[in-house]
Formats: sequence, C-alpha cells, structure tokens
Amino acid sequence: MKKKLWSGRFKEATHGLVDEFNASISFDCRLFRHDIRGSAAHAAALEKAGVLTGPEAGRITRGLAAVEKEMASGGFAWKAGHEDVHMAVEARLIELIGPLGGKLHTGRSRNDQVALDIRLYLKDEIYGIISLLHGLKKTLVEVASANADCVMPGYTHLQRAQPVLLAHHLLAYYEMFKRDTARLFDALERVDELPLGAGALAGSPYNLDRKLVARLLGFARVTENSIDAVSDRDFTIEFISACAIMMMHISRLSEELILWSSQEFRFVELSDAFSTGSSIMPQKKNPDVCELGRGKTGRIYGNLTAILSVMKALPLAYNKDMQEDKEPLFDTVDTVKAVLRIYPPMLASMRVRKDEMRSACETGFLNATDAADYLVKKGLPFRDAHHVAGRLVAYCIKKGKTLGALELVEWRGFSKLFGPDITKAVSIETSVAARRIHGGTSPANVKKRLKEVMAELKKGGC
Ligand code: ARG
Repeated sequence: MKKKLWSGRFKEATHGLVDEFNASISFDCRLFRHDIRGSAAHAAALEKAGVLTGPEAGRITRGLAAVEKEMASGGFAWKAGHEDVHMAVEARLIELIGPLGGKLHTGRSRNDQVALDIRLYLKDEIYGIISLLHGLKKTLVEVASANADCVMPGYTHLQRAQPVLLAHHLLAYYEMFKRDTARLFDALERVDELPLGAGALAGSPYNLDRKLVARLLGFARVTENSIDAVSDRDFTIEFISACAIMMMHISRLSEELILWSSQEFRFVELSDAFSTGSSIMPQKKNPDVCELGRGKTGRIYGNLTAILSVMKALPLAYNKDMQEDKEPLFDTVDTVKAVLRIYPPMLASMRVRKDEMRSACETGFLNATDAADYLVKKGLPFRDAHHVAGRLVAYCIKKGKTLGALELVEWRGFSKLFGPDITKAVSIETSVAARRIHGGTSPANVKKRLKEVMAELKKGGC
C-alpha cells in the first residue's frame, strides 16, 4: 500500500486491523459521484480564489471526470487502505494527473466534505423517494376510485363499528402519505444548505466563494456557522425520522392487508404474483410482501435509534463516531425505496371482494348508532337513545336477529318513537350517506375528495 495522504507525522505504518476498523470505504463508496461533483465545484472556487490557475482547474476537473468514469464502470479497485471515498477519489486523481491533484484539498477538510456529500446524496434520494411515494398515493386513489361504491365495516378496537366506504378507508392512507410527503419536503429544506467552506471546523482561510459553490451544486443556502456545519447530522436524523413515520403508516396498511386477505376476513385477495407459498402446506398463499413491509418498519426505527444514539452527547465539532451515520442512512434509503417500489403494483393487482365486505356490514350491529340517532331526531337525548339502542342490540343477540330484520312492533316495544321508516334509517346505505359532514364517509363526500386528490396528484404536488 502506498503512503497515506495524512501520513506526514507518522513514523509507523497503521496496523492492518486499524485500517479495516477505521475504513468506511466499503459503504461510503456509494457517494463517489457526489464527492466528485463537490470536488469539481470546490476546484472552481479555488480558481476564483486564485489558488488554482484556469488551466490547473481544468486539468483537475477533467481528472475528476476520469476518476468518476473509472469508478462508475466498476473498474476501480476499492481498498480499505484508502480509508474512505474522499481519500480514494483524491488518491486516484493524484495518480492520474500527478502532484497537481494534491492542490484540490486546499481550504477543505474531509469534515466539510463528508457533510457536503451526504447532503448532496440526500437531496437526490429524497426527491426519488417523494416520487415513489407519489406512485403509491396514485395507486391508492386508483383502487379507491375503481371501487367507489364498495362498503365495508369500519373498525374500532378491531370490532365492527360503523359502515364506511372502502374508498374512504383507502383515502385515509392517502392523507397519511400526503403528510409523509410534506415531511420529506420539509426535511429537504434543511438538507439544502452548503457546508463546504467550513473546513475542519473553524472555516476555510481561503477566499472561497461559497455562494458560487452553492449555485454550482444547486444548494438554496450556505450554512451560517462552520462548527455547526461539520458537527450536526440532524438533517439525516430528520430524514430517517420522516421515513420512520412513513413506514409506521406502511406497517398499518400492511397489517390491514394481511388481516383482510385472511380466511377470517376474505376482504381482498392479493394476486399470485405478489404472494408466496409454503414449503410444507400446499394450500398456503401467504402475504409475505406485506409482512416484510411491516417487518422492515422495525428496521427503520432501529436505524433512527442508531443514529440518535451515535449523535447523543458528542462534543462539538467532528468526531469519528459520526462515520457511523452512513450505514443506517443508506439502509433506510434502500429499504424505503424497495418498499415503495413494490406496494403500488401489489395494490393495483389485488382483488377487492366487494360482496364479502358488504355482507360483513350486515352483522355486528354496525347500524346501532343509526338507531340511536333516529331517536335523537325524534327528540330523545342522545344518552337515552344510546341506552335504548343498546337494549335493542341485546335483544337481537338473544333472538339471533339483526336490527334490520326487526318488525315494527319489536322496535316499538323499546320506544314508541320508532315509526315505519326505521328499517330504512338503519340500512347500510342510509348510514353511509348520512355522514355528509366534511371529511365523512358519504358517497358524495368521497367522490368530491377523490376528484380533489386526483387533481392534487396531477399537479404533481403533495
Ligand atoms: N469517513 C469519514 C466519515 O464518514 C469522513 C470524515 C473523516 N474526517 C476525519 N477528520 N477523520 O465521517
């Protein structure tokens, strides 16, 4: 191995174990494009500051392009002795263009460099994730609108509660994923700052035009404090935290799909293409994709906890502990992207069993609230009406009947306020249609909301 770029003060070579232990190259090599982009912009700033001549900056930039080509083609030999991606790029540049390459690191430290690379990487990835989330929201809306008339039991405590439209239920997820998108855009706001120029911690002593570098790299702002710029990873934490919340939503959707595709519910059937079999039980069709989506949520929470724990109580400014930020970050990006890629086609190919959902609304007294509301309309205080409806439910359970099947005399046995229109008042359709309040499940509302969200999605916004 050649001499290390920082080996000047050292008399002994690093122990092989330290090389391995210290290195981040096996995982931060994925940042090479961002590292090189940042380096090219830094070269431009060095030229403007008079550190590099125009031809020197040109040679460095061309050299960087050659390094990038090599690394992108897979022809580059990544070695632990390089320690990290920053040193690997610089060392290779020096090999290719000679000692001039050694001028590139003027006025820069790996501390501001690594902060820059992660920010550049995150900007790309957050946009990518937002666009995948857009695809998921679009599919949810498509499934909702293709099944706009489908009623299903809404649940509380996993007990049948009140009938709702399936479309309303799916649009609940739309709202969650919409907020997740907003959280990611918000995180992006704080990622979008250029740390380069902070140097090791105190700021670069060269007259580097940070605004120029920010412009070249597409950053909205430059960081205001050099110590903060190299010390914090709150932007990474914020991103993973937004992902953790999004995965919490994914896990709830997954759990419902798992329940709904069970023999106990039979509300949906996942397509064969998105299900798996059992090695022993021939009849099995398992919702593995949903289970993995649910399981991977734990993994993202783990990543969030890992980075929060790494950063806890670190003194300012840079500490090598912070190298531990990358694996949780990369794993979060990879996991979230894999989940967001597979859910839309899985949802789109799922069979919705409308009849099963509807017949599940018939039992479980989902209309008991409507019976109480009927009495309220006749002037009975709700608390009394609730009591009458409760007694009616107990009566039905004893008789093995549903509320809809009761004769008028039976209703009137509980309250003289009941009239012949009670049967219609407790029908599923009436129950759903009555929820006309803004945000409620009535078909009119849901249709209106579907239109709105379709327009939102077309605009490409949240
Ligand atoms: N590989 C390092 C990291 O990921 C880069 C910064 C190293 N800085 C240093 N002073 N050793 O954090």
